[in-house]
Amino acid sequence: MKHAEIVPSLLSADFANLTDEIGKVERAGCGRLHLDVMDGRFVPNISFGPVVIRSIRKVTGLYFQSHLMIEQPERYVDAFAEAGVNAIIIHREACEDPGGTLDRIRALGLEAGLALRPATPLQTLDGLLNKMDMVLVMTVEPGFGGQKFIEGTDDKVESLRDMLEREGRDIPIGVDGGINTETAPAVARAGATHLIAGNAVFKGDVAVNIERLNKSIR
Ligand code: DX5
Ligand code: ZN
Repeated sequence: MKHAEIVPSLLSADFANLTDEIGKVERAGCGRLHLDVMDGRFVPNISFGPVVIRSIRKVTGLYFQSHLMIEQPERYVDAFAEAGVNAIIIHREACEDPGGTLDRIRALGLEAGLALRPATPLQTLDGLLNKMDMVLVMTVEPGFGGQKFIEGTDDKVESLRDMLEREGRDIPIGVDGGINTETAPAVARAGATHLIAGNAVFKGDVAVNIERLNKSIR
């Protein structure tokens, strides 16, 4: 089995020093950066959008996965593609035509992902699995960094892994929210391949944090 990978979420970084913060995760060996986009409607919080992403695109070659916590994400997929992201993850609950939106993301030459809130059942993926390159299982209610991992969401990851196996779709499973050295082992065991972590990466020494997180899942 491949080792799960830690994916830093920029939301917990110091926004006055983004270039520095990105350099730290690069030097720690991470290959991806998770970009949390919030609109104040789908979630109560507001974060950043394509303007910021376009700027940080210039300072790193990291794979950018944008997690759009916005209503009607189809309105903005082109703008995020132009800003230079590599993947766009939309929320199943935020759009009326997830299939069409996933198709559009792929047509733009990007990887497409679908995210599910903790209470959204896996059955909502029915008929869509062939249109996506990754699934993101929310392990907290989306909207804020630094929340507590919701118990039982690791079982959902396991069910998803089984479902993907049955369907013959070997695609990455991301988990997002409350991931730290305590919660990482269970989600990795359950089959998550991408462990998104904000606070556990950026609060304190980034290199030490990533080393500890990696150790916890080996
Ligand atoms: C929550 C975001 C997460 C968040 C993770 O809405 O989607 O990516 O930043 O942060 P931590 O790891 O601090 O829970
Ligand atoms: Zn996220």
